[in-house]
Amino acid sequence: MKLLHKSIFLTLLTPMAVMAEDVHPGKVLHDDANCMRCHADLGYNQPDLTKMAPTDIKGLQKAVSFCDNNLSIGWFDDEKQDVVDYLNKTYYHFDH
Ligand code: HEC
Repeated sequence: MKLLHKSIFLTLLTPMAVMAEDVHPGKVLHDDANCMRCHADLGYNQPDLTKMAPTDIKGLQKAVSFCDNNLSIGWFDDEKQDVVDYLNKTYYHFDH
């Protein structure tokens, strides 16, 4: 009985684990930090965004740091880098 239980559990869990692996770690951080509270409306890389308007990966790093600092999220450097990479892959497509 115990064994049966375990195999049902594993069958249910495996597809979830596979799905979780497909999500970019930067997206998880980004969503957890509630960046979309503002950026759902503002968007990213939109023509009417002029204050930071990053034109390369360095500019994008600065913009992420700016909002991270302003909101006191306190991401570590490697976490910030994950978010930069996620935003770049999704919205900006700068060369590294
Ligand atoms: C309180 C509102 C608010 C929140 C929450 C917020 N931002 Fe921003 N963000 C802004 C504003 C305002 C700008 C400047 C928009 C403009 O150019 O007019 C901006 C600009 C940016 C830009 C540059 C956009 C572009 O293409 O010009 C990036 C990247 C960015 N934010 C990342 C983040 C990240 C990552 C988070 C989550 C930690 C975040 N923001 C949370 C308000 C916010």
